[in-house]
Amino acid sequence: MRAIVIPKNGPPSVFEEREVEDRRLAPKDVRIRVEAAGVNFADLMGRIGLYPDAPPLPYAPGYEVAGVVEEAGAQVEPTLAPGTRVMATTRFWGYADAIRAPQHWVVPIPESVDFTTAAAVPVNYLTAYLALLHCGAAKPGERVLVHGGAGGVGLAALDLARGRELEMYATAGSDEKCRRLEALGVVKAFNYRTEDWAQASRSALRGAGYHLILDPLGPTSFQKGLAMLEPLGRIMCYGFSSLVEGQKRSLWKAATKVLTASKVNPITLMNENKGVHGLNLAQLFTQRDLHREAMGRLGTLLSDGAIRPTIDCVFPLTAAGAASAHEYLHERRNFGKVVLVRG
Ligand SMILES: NC(=O)c1ccc[n+]([C@@H]2O[C@H](COP(=O)([O-])OP(=O)(O)OC[C@H]3O[C@@H](n4cnc5c(N)ncnc54)[C@H](OP(=O)(O)O)[C@@H]3O)[C@@H](O)[C@H]2O)c1
Repeated sequence: MRAIVIPKNGPPSVFEEREVEDRRLAPKDVRIRVEAAGVNFADLMGRIGLYPDAPPLPYAPGYEVAGVVEEAGAQVEPTLAPGTRVMATTRFWGYADAIRAPQHWVVPIPESVDFTTAAAVPVNYLTAYLALLHCGAAKPGERVLVHGGAGGVGLAALDLARGRELEMYATAGSDEKCRRLEALGVVKAFNYRTEDWAQASRSALRGAGYHLILDPLGPTSFQKGLAMLEPLGRIMCYGFSSLVEGQKRSLWKAATKVLTASKVNPITLMNENKGVHGLNLAQLFTQRDLHREAMGRLGTLLSDGAIRPTIDCVFPLTAAGAASAHEYLHERRNFGKVVLVRG
């Protein structure tokens, strides 16, 4: 089996294509021929060497794929028989020709949904679903701020918010991204490079705050977010992209940001009626029922046309394609999802 591996931590040019051994299927596993693999920010962090959940090197990144079931274990449900078109979450190794996955990570997709679109769903939409609706429990009438609004998770959250009577706000890194977010229904998008989003929020909300903040940035935004919460407001922490300084890691800079990050005081949280919630999909793979239920729900929404992932662009599923995709994301050029597709 051919995989696109990271042999050592470094810039996007480190990717190499290698033949790797394909393990036997367990009775409840399927083997999927990969047609498209989603690229996630976590893949960049893993390549740099800033991702604690990454397996030992060399490994292939890739947390999600879409493709066709090639082979099914003896106890796999008939709905995932060979030939079925599917999307799946994966624990790494998605940048490959084929991948083995337990059946509860896999859901069928209809003919009407192309592989590129399906590969954009599992990670971004699972994260957004859990952050916005499951843990964040956003309710009609609430004001929600989404940091990184123009990224894959940010746009998935906006997509899932449609029709729920939520007042959505966002931050992004350029006026162009903010303009596009507002065209999608965001009440106000703040360009965090040219204005202090917290100050600008206060004037936009006339002194009021947010009921829910989705925060993948980490130490640099957390304290301001906490201060911007309404009573009984929640902040969902699911990333630390502000620790990424460029295409290579700077452990010193990252460690400084982590060490100077604000600590949460439970008594203050109690007195101010505020909630802080962490979310890490990589540590949720053991929650089979939750995973199956959430993936099943996303599969239905996708089949019904109720969610429509924003695809920014595709690159070939090759070492050179993976390198270009990672460079594109480092340069923050994406509005939506970047996907690797089989040539
Ligand atoms: N905990 C979980 O389970 C989980 C799951 C999925 C994703 N995440 C996290 O959610 C965040 C967004 O992921 P994603 O896949 O949606 O991202 P993405 O589509 O790859 O988008 C990346 C965007 O993040 C922004 N950004 C912020 N800091 C950056 C930096 N240092 N370098 C490059 N870009 C930076 C840029 O937008 P602007 O120009 O607008 O700033 C960039 O376009 C990441 O922190 C990721 O690790 C967490």
